[in-house]
Amino acid sequence: MKDFSLEVHGCHQYDATGAISDPIYLSATYRHPGFKQSTGYDYGRVDNPTRHELELTLARLERGERAWALSSGMAAINMALHLLQPGDHILLSEDLYGGTVRLVNDIYSAYGLTYDYVDTSDLAATEAKITDKTRLLFIETPSNPMMRISDIAALAKLAHAHHALLAVDNTFLSPHFQKPLTLGADIVVHSATKYLCGHNDIIAGVIAIADRNADYGQKLELLIKSEGPNLSPMDSWLLLRSIKTLGLRVERQEQNAQKIAEWLTTQENVTDVYYVGLPSHPGHELQQRQATGNGSMISFKVKTPELAKAMLERIRLIAFAESLGGVESLLTYPLAQTHAEMPQELLARTGLDDRLLRLSVGIEDAEDLIADLSQALNG
Ligand SMILES: Cc1ncc(COP(=O)(O)O)c(C=O)c1O
Repeated sequence: MKDFSLEVHGCHQYDATGAISDPIYLSATYRHPGFKQSTGYDYGRVDNPTRHELELTLARLERGERAWALSSGMAAINMALHLLQPGDHILLSEDLYGGTVRLVNDIYSAYGLTYDYVDTSDLAATEAKITDKTRLLFIETPSNPMMRISDIAALAKLAHAHHALLAVDNTFLSPHFQKPLTLGADIVVHSATKYLCGHNDIIAGVIAIADRNADYGQKLELLIKSEGPNLSPMDSWLLLRSIKTLGLRVERQEQNAQKIAEWLTTQENVTDVYYVGLPSHPGHELQQRQATGNGSMISFKVKTPELAKAMLERIRLIAFAESLGGVESLLTYPLAQTHAEMPQELLARTGLDDRLLRLSVGIEDAEDLIADLSQALNG
């Protein structure tokens, strides 16, 4: 089945009523038909019919064997890192969500994990940073917020040649545009708070895997059952409902983003535009090979830090807020928001500075969005 049909129908296994909308099962526990007998559901932390429907749908969308719906994107990233042992080394994209950097640097380092950051869009530089202890390569593509593009298939080969796993944070593109597991990645994580939800009304995460029978699949099963980071039935239902319109939303958002990015390149007060849909983007060609869309995240630099701050206060239709992926357009100042805790060294390496703004393009009318940006940019 093609993406649009999968998104609308998921894995829908109609219950006895034939309900088109999946029921929300709120029960925390389940009655056993007899001694040592089960309906397949025993206790809500371990499984829940609404969450189960969502997880089957997510696994199909990512073309994976198994997916888990978790309480946040950070819970999903935490699970991927949890696969490692003290002494293991993790290599991460140097340009990535600040919360992931904080989790690695401030939490996992205390448990004996070593780590390095590298520009994973540079294959040779990435290979040079792999050690005999590297067990996980963790990337974002497009990266956050500089929109660098990494070659998923090549990195999967590299990771596997060194007995490491490749995990991809697929938040920015969603499975509608990019399916890392089909390119050789082992693990996909999402902040489902973003495009998968699309309405800025729940916090959720996803971890999907290529092979449920591999060691890492079995370990994840055990970890999630034991630690209980699962998504609630109500939020699972909201996410299932949101996914029905995923394709419509992200394709519309992408069309808007292309128009806005092109317009930004013509603006005197804008010095740099980072959007992979622009043919001038260094990752544009690779992106067309490994994904079916460019997404709707644009970063850009304006002439001065003062102008960047003034824009945040002048925008009206677009909201000054963190997060991304929703139907409402949001403008973020990464240095003070999403990447506030990024070490200075990584900021310098990636070029994230006080003139950078990140725009998550929504589904509004592109002309209205451009008009709002124009009045904010030109005072
Ligand atoms: C790319 C990316 N990954 C992960 C996360 C964390 O997700 P959550 O906020 O749902 O925990 C975020 C949050 O902004 C993100 O942008």
